[in-house]
Amino acid sequence: MLAIASDHAGYVLKCEVMKHLDEKGISYEDLGTYDSEKSVDYPDYGQLVGEAVANSTHEHGIIICGTGIGISIAANKVPGVRAALCTDTYMARMSREHNDANVLALGARVIGTGLALDIVDTWLNASFLGARHKIRVDKFKSIENNYK
Ligand code: RB5
Repeated sequence: MLAIASDHAGYVLKCEVMKHLDEKGISYEDLGTYDSEKSVDYPDYGQLVGEAVANSTHEHGIIICGTGIGISIAANKVPGVRAALCTDTYMARMSREHNDANVLALGARVIGTGLALDIVDTWLNASFLGARHKIRVDKFKSIENNYK
């Protein structure tokens, strides 16, 4: 199951993404925020999804803020999270195939809905290629271990 969250700036795009997931029969849990009126802090939502994925309660995550930058920085602070901010489908595919990204970050003020939904589809349909990429991805864990 996917975990999905946004701040107020990402709320409208998050609703479009959830509608799209519904149409495709892909299950998700919406961890907030629940409207675009109340200003909230994007680190809280990056952390929520990051922890859900790191704790394996959810397989993957999608996070959305205005640029996708702040919420992805927050998610990446959670050990085990590999959040990738993607602005095109090539980045989406490569973030899965090479980086084994477990969280997709989108910027609602940067890309349109159509592109965002294509990015979501590409990201969900791509898989990690392993092999030489695994050696590199394993180094993320080594870096994290240096700061325990
Ligand atoms: C909110 O105004 C905005 O700062 C936030 O959505 C995001 O773009 C931060 O990186």
